[in-house]
Amino acid sequence: MRLLRKVTAMAMASMMVLSMAACGGGSSASATTAAPAETKAAEGGASGSGTIGVCIYKFDDAFMTTYRNALQEILEGKGYTVTFMDGKNDQAEQNNQINNFIAQEVDALIINPVMTSAADQIIATVKDANIPTVLINREPTADQMAAYDKLVYVGCDARQSGTMQGELILDTPNKGDINGDGVISYIMIQGDPENVDAQYRTEFSVKALTDAGLAVKELDLQRGDWDRNKGQEIAQNDLAKFGDEIEVVFCNNDDMAIGALQAIQAAERKVNEDIYLVGVDALDAALNEVVNGNMTGTVLNDAKGQAAGAVEAMEALLGGKTYAAGEQSIYVDYVKVTPENAADFQ
Ligand code: GAL
Repeated sequence: MRLLRKVTAMAMASMMVLSMAACGGGSSASATTAAPAETKAAEGGASGSGTIGVCIYKFDDAFMTTYRNALQEILEGKGYTVTFMDGKNDQAEQNNQINNFIAQEVDALIINPVMTSAADQIIATVKDANIPTVLINREPTADQMAAYDKLVYVGCDARQSGTMQGELILDTPNKGDINGDGVISYIMIQGDPENVDAQYRTEFSVKALTDAGLAVKELDLQRGDWDRNKGQEIAQNDLAKFGDEIEVVFCNNDDMAIGALQAIQAAERKVNEDIYLVGVDALDAALNEVVNGNMTGTVLNDAKGQAAGAVEAMEALLGGKTYAAGEQSIYVDYVKVTPENAADFQ
């Protein structure tokens, strides 16, 4: 697996050089600072220059912290001057940060929107300023992105991660039906429901079970906002309320699953024996629990792959590339993680 990822990264790097070489002479928000990027492309070098503004929806998010670190390493490693801003989960605050970056005439923006519903406004703002922009982590619709051809989304298709969570349950010896009553009884601990990742993971995890012809019963669905403490509280309350009826705990992300695990252990339940637990992200803490048998599985949300893809798309934009409507989403695959392959991601 490691080898495969290395090869993919190398292939991406050489594709980047090729695509940049192919599109020299393009325009960007700031001709003076875009020029060095084009010069580098002409030289075939892997480094860049220029100033990049990065807006993260909030720093205090486990997965986005790994993503931010990966972005920083790649961008600074290439020679860019980068400023990261913490949106503090406040769209108004993030709007100010975007406006400040525009006033500072950054060469490109990478934005993880606070609210998916703010996409129209963000896109109109960056278009007005003519700044090449890569959106990450929260996917707008194709129609919204079509408004600006120097804008691209790099991320994952959240439907895939939901389906993989369902498959992790289908792969257990009793297909999630621990008590053998013919019905998989589950609780769903959801991320921020405004976020398409939360919506699709909730829908497609269960769809994988029903598509396989299995009957399901939703005992509870609560929003945990991607947060470990909320995951713990929800699981604790549900375990007190539903007890052994709960066979599967679906969490839209790993941080909430780690919280749920604390509640499961406090209730003296045993994962993979009398309850199943799945998350998404493949955070280090979750990988350890998968290896130890305390989580049934997780799904790799490839922070490094997405960061590399975002930088590659940004460099293409800086080189003058524009994106046609309907071709503005670039996806990185999710990967199912079980005890068999978890070590490959640690
Ligand atoms: C998801 C990730 C969550 C959280 C969320 C923020 O892709 O799985 O853990 O980081 O993004 O939007």
